[in-house]
Amino acid sequence: MNGRFPKKITRRKFLSTSGKLTLGVTGILAVSTSLFAYGESNRRKRMGPKERPGNFIKLGALDRLTAMQGIEKIEYEATIQDAWVTKEMKGFVYVSNDADGNLLILSPICTHLGCTVEPVGEPDHGASSQDIVYRCPCHGAEFGSAGNATGNGKGLQGLATFKPIIADGEVYFNLLSPMAGNAASR
Ligand code: FES
Repeated sequence: MNGRFPKKITRRKFLSTSGKLTLGVTGILAVSTSLFAYGESNRRKRMGPKERPGNFIKLGALDRLTAMQGIEKIEYEATIQDAWVTKEMKGFVYVSNDADGNLLILSPICTHLGCTVEPVGEPDHGASSQDIVYRCPCHGAEFGSAGNATGNGKGLQGLATFKPIIADGEVYFNLLSPMAGNAASR
């Protein structure tokens, strides 16, 4: 032998070298995964309105909505991507503040047969102690400020509500996630 062949590697040396190699590969993978996660979270923070899913409806500035008195009808237009189908949707919600300053976002769809409820002034049937805020023009169902069925609406499900989503000082709601109103009570 003239020494051109590699030296014989001992078992101890082999294990030590392969262990270092494994640690190195694991380290590289961990760093690259962390960098990807960091980049992805930054991308989400910078997400502009065009990248927001169409079902997230913008209602307006939080400051303005929380200072609002009474009920505001806020219309929306949405483009919803449902699997391979794109749907254009139009509608509106009623927005108000409760006594504790929480935003209430109510669906206007009557839970009797689906007509559109309207805000009312004073209850017109003499029951002034009742909290009647919305009335349905079709068959007279009545609902309170939080969408609870009351007055002539007793026995119906309450109006559906939406949870306010607050981001960057603006209020949004998810059109595809209505919360069922209070169960019927008699
Ligand atoms: S649809 Fe509203 S009361 Fe009948």
